Amino acid sequence: MIFKPIPYEFYEYGTAYFWVHFGLVIFGFVLAIVTFLSQRVNPAPYGKHDQLAANWGPMIPQRLAHITSDAIPGVLWFALIFFLYSKEQSDKEIINYVLFGIFLLHTVHRGIIHPLVMRYKSSKVALGICLGALIPNFLYHFLNANHIAVSKYDKNYYYDPRFILGILLFLIGFVINRWADWMLRSLRRTRGNFIESSGSAGYYIPYGGLYELVSCPNYFGELVQWIGWTLATWSLAGFVWTCFSAATFFARAYHNHMWYKENFENYPPNRKAILPFLY
Ligand SMILES: NC(=O)c1ccc[n+]([C@@H]2O[C@H](COP(=O)([O-])OP(=O)(O)OC[C@H]3O[C@@H](n4cnc5c(N)ncnc54)[C@H](OP(=O)(O)O)[C@@H]3O)[C@@H](O)[C@H]2O)c1
Repeated sequence: MIFKPIPYEFYEYGTAYFWVHFGLVIFGFVLAIVTFLSQRVNPAPYGKHDQLAANWGPMIPQRLAHITSDAIPGVLWFALIFFLYSKEQSDKEIINYVLFGIFLLHTVHRGIIHPLVMRYKSSKVALGICLGALIPNFLYHFLNANHIAVSKYDKNYYYDPRFILGILLFLIGFVINRWADWMLRSLRRTRGNFIESSGSAGYYIPYGGLYELVSCPNYFGELVQWIGWTLATWSLAGFVWTCFSAATFFARAYHNHMWYKENFENYPPNRKAILPFLY
């Protein structure tokens, strides 16, 4: 098989569609850098770091906020762009639908199931937190839906190492992410909810599996997922979304890790924040 650096046809260079897509890719990259810098200084005020939530606008129901910020762009908007942005419907091959399906596997869980089943300590979250996720999600999910709607992959791309390894990483990351979030949920199920309490009440040290190595295996798992997505789609759209996700994960994992150390004297000293053995 001949290795092709770009294994698909996309918009022709110089067309308006081309410039809109890659103009937004550049904007998405800049937004990822700004997000990292600002969230590294001040964590977004929800969950463990919700002390400054009042500065981020009126409080709204937390489950509704997460469904709005993740399901609307991640499921509805993503599907709309995927089906509407196409040269012709008949252009789409099975591979386009496979990529569509695995993206939805994540967003249906993250946008609908996760907010409904998690045991949040606070029933409310600031409107700014909802908008701070909703707006970037519209941008990055547009880019990814646009890419997989329009790209015409080579017929033999199924056998390409980028596709095989990418899908494998996506699925491994998905399992890690789901498992890690489930572990956090179980802590409150077995040890007490402390609903609407403040400070560290209602938080416990998680143990077992990847929690022995890092404080935030949920972020680690999702990062692996998006690296897999970028590899499988071989796209700049996937790459900037991974950069944005990494920006939030690294910044927040740092704050979560410091928070655990400050709040639990017996916090395991060798645990890293997000990358096993490294960071
Ligand atoms: N792609 C992206 O850009 C992006 C960005 C952010 C998050 N996410 C994903 O969204 C999901 C949730 O993220 P998150 O930032 O909300 O994660 P998180 O801070 O780890 O919290 C997840 C859940 O577990 C609870 N929890 C956390 N630590 C706990 C502890 N020590 N003891 C008991 N309960 C604990 C939290 O309760 P409280 O809410 O009461 O703290 C929340 O319900 C993750 O899967 C993450 O990968 C994606």
